Amino acid sequence: MLLQQIVGTSLPIIQAPMAGWQGSELAVAVSNAGGLGSLPCAMLTVEAMRGELAAIRAGTRLPYNVNFFCHSPPAPDADRETRWRASLLPYYEEFGIDTAAIAPGAARSPFSPEAADVLDEFKPAVVSFHFGLPSAALMARARATGARIFSSATTVDEALWLEAHGADAIIAQGSGAGGHRGIFLSNDVTTQMGTFALLPQIVRAVAVPVIAAGGIADAQGVAAALALGAAGVQIGTAYLLCPEAKTSAVHRAALRSDSARHTAITNVFTGRPARGIVNRIIRERGPLSALAPEFPLAASAIAPLRAKAEARGSGDFSPLWCGQNASGCREVPAAELTRDLAGSL
Ligand SMILES: Cc1cc2nc3c(=O)[nH]c(=O)nc-3n(C[C@H](O)[C@H](O)[C@H](O)COP(=O)(O)O)c2cc1C
Repeated sequence: MLLQQIVGTSLPIIQAPMAGWQGSELAVAVSNAGGLGSLPCAMLTVEAMRGELAAIRAGTRLPYNVNFFCHSPPAPDADRETRWRASLLPYYEEFGIDTAAIAPGAARSPFSPEAADVLDEFKPAVVSFHFGLPSAALMARARATGARIFSSATTVDEALWLEAHGADAIIAQGSGAGGHRGIFLSNDVTTQMGTFALLPQIVRAVAVPVIAAGGIADAQGVAAALALGAAGVQIGTAYLLCPEAKTSAVHRAALRSDSARHTAITNVFTGRPARGIVNRIIRERGPLSALAPEFPLAASAIAPLRAKAEARGSGDFSPLWCGQNASGCREVPAAELTRDLAGSL
């Protein structure tokens, strides 16, 4: 079954939710172009989420997806935080940052009963999750809105787990994908495989539809994923230069440069593995650091460095999320990009 039959879009393309990088504007543009626009909610308050969903409702009558993280927030670990900050001390000194004044960074919250209340008001066609699925009670709340439930799997085991726990479709997220790995059954990044290795194995293992994600950047890539049994594709990186995305100036510059061909899976920005363009902090403290506090706590220590560096026009301390195929990034309206990605489909 194709994505179009599952959710009623005219194209088999999901614009990947990208928390912190986009809001309703990108989602509306993609949904109106026939794809499935997505609203990421991991970094929104419930009030902001309500406002963004109202903007989507005003902008389109077509299906859209609302996306959440569903991690278990860790207890703060003062010792680990102290060791992590100590390792960053040379940078704080370089930028004249008072470590005593470091505020908690941008928070990333998991799906909650309050968020489920907002879903009840808007009844999106799809609700998607990253990092597994929420508790059975919260799953039931999401399902009661009438939404189809999607979630990312980065291994065959995760796909089987998601199917057994009620996912209606599985997003096979290959290791070339930009942003956070959806990995949730282990922390072992050696289990992570490329999209075109992962996709056919998941397609064979589960009965529910499978969406391919990671490194898909043009119409040929979309067609190849469909040929390998995908019901549709989820594409993030290619949308990052669209005017509707909120990608920062330093990130846009990096995406346009040769550095976009140098990416790594790193945990230094948030505590969870995520793929981004290699910059100074990844080179000097990563890519994977045993000192980084647990997700999402690692973010606070980096936040002031990121702010100071970006004020100087530098992305040395910014999470420059990017998949392994930035060749599809174009400064064109998202509707045009969506139609081009669909090609002759
Ligand atoms: C900037 C950025 C932010 C992302 N944020 C999220 C998110 O909030 N929720 C989510 O489920 N996936 C997120 N992802 C991962 C995407 O869902 C998807 O797996 C990935 O973009 C696909 O690979 P591609 O970037 O090579 O197209 C993000 C990806 C990027 C590039």
